[in-house]
Amino acid sequence: MSAASETPEVIGLASDHAGAQLKAVLIGELERLGYHPLDLGTAPGAAVDYPDMADRLATALADGRCRRGVLVCGTGIGISIAANRHRHVRAGLCHDVTGARLCREHNDANVLALGERLTGAEVAKDCLAAFLSTGFAGGRHAPRVAKLG
Ligand code: RB5
Repeated sequence: MSAASETPEVIGLASDHAGAQLKAVLIGELERLGYHPLDLGTAPGAAVDYPDMADRLATALADGRCRRGVLVCGTGIGISIAANRHRHVRAGLCHDVTGARLCREHNDANVLALGERLTGAEVAKDCLAAFLSTGFAGGRHAPRVAKLG
């Protein structure tokens, strides 16, 4: 979590139409936790293609606008597949707090992926908090993560 005296960490978020409502909830939660959400779209309404939204976050990570991010689609599956085609992205699709913690500890995930149609808002908020507050464990996990890059 960002300390009050520090500049809030920017967290990028992107979703397709099926994830826009949960994204809005998570933006509010990020503000409550003291982060600076960077909403990369989409707004609720017209259908958009989840690969395009994953690409938006991948670009924001690559150009340094954020170091970590959140992706949401209906299931979280399509948008995490799309995100992980970028070599600098390690997106963990999570359905519970344990997964959100372990994708940080073991995989050094820089993106949390969620499915609005599968994961309720309260669980999603808990996943977000675990993702943000957990560090990479390093050690035996470091050479494995290095092989992903
Ligand atoms: C959109 O209807 C839906 O297919 C998309 O949000 C996602 O669930 C795909 O994996």
